[in-house]
Amino acid sequence: MAKKRRIAIYPGSFDPITNGHIDIIKRAALLFDELIVTISSNSSKDSFFSISKRKKILYDCLKNHQNVKIDTFDTLLVNYAESKNILTIVRGLRALSDFEYEFRMAIMNRNLNVNIETVFLMTDEKFAHISSSLIKEIHFLGGDVQDFVPESVIKALNGISDEKFAK
Ligand code: COA
Repeated sequence: MAKKRRIAIYPGSFDPITNGHIDIIKRAALLFDELIVTISSNSSKDSFFSISKRKKILYDCLKNHQNVKIDTFDTLLVNYAESKNILTIVRGLRALSDFEYEFRMAIMNRNLNVNIETVFLMTDEKFAHISSSLIKEIHFLGGDVQDFVPESVIKALNGISDEKFAK
């Protein structure tokens, strides 16, 4: 009998993706046969980069990871998972402060669909202080974020800065 492929979803806003997210993606890609990194387009957060820009950045950062696919979704996460026939959601934990939010989300998702399981992976401690909003804040106040995000994010941030400065 053919072995069932283990597929998981790693959802997020990725606005923008950081080295912390990439660390989780690399860890999850080793554990699953396929990982779908999927960008939520209906997050309650105000987004900075458009969905298509975030998707392009993700393609660029993850193009060498054979078993990682990129997608977007605008529904409930559990409905997206169900539509793909995937029962595992991966989320990263950076610090204890992430736990409460992640715990509530995982329990709610399980209430919405009892078959869906959330798996948590610990971010490498060197990325524990990184968040997308801190990256944007530091960059636009003139700080250097190149140790925290991939090159394509720097390019995208600079593109936006140039447009802003050109006005
Ligand atoms: N390294 C670095 N930063 C990390 C990180 C890691 N490993 N993991 C999370 N973060 C940061 C992100 O940078 C982001 O920072 P910010 O708040 O400054 O922007 C924050 O932690 C959380 O971001 P992310 O992991 O992208 O998740 P999210 O909370 O923005 O996304 C969804 C949550 C999209 C999964 C959730 O809203 C969802 O499922 N939405 C669909 C609708 C739905 O089903 N709602 C019901 C949910 S119960």
